Amino acid sequence: MVNRCICSKISFAEIKEIADQNEYKSVKDLRDAGVCSIHCRICEPYVEKVLETGNVVFDPFQSTNK
Ligand code: FES
Repeated sequence: MVNRCICSKISFAEIKEIADQNEYKSVKDLRDAGVCSIHCRICEPYVEKVLETGNVVFDPFQSTNK
């Protein structure tokens, strides 16, 4: 399961909470604030989904996550 930004050691649940509190609307907002998606950026499409859907756990093998 994919549920965190490994590089920033932060779960998608925490990212969602921070985004809600600070009204961050995009991965760029989160990156600019130093929250996540700063390094390898593998998590970026998932963080986009977190912001879009509110889901915080993803199965990388399920096409419905795309
Ligand atoms: S896993 Fe998020 S930047 Fe690497």
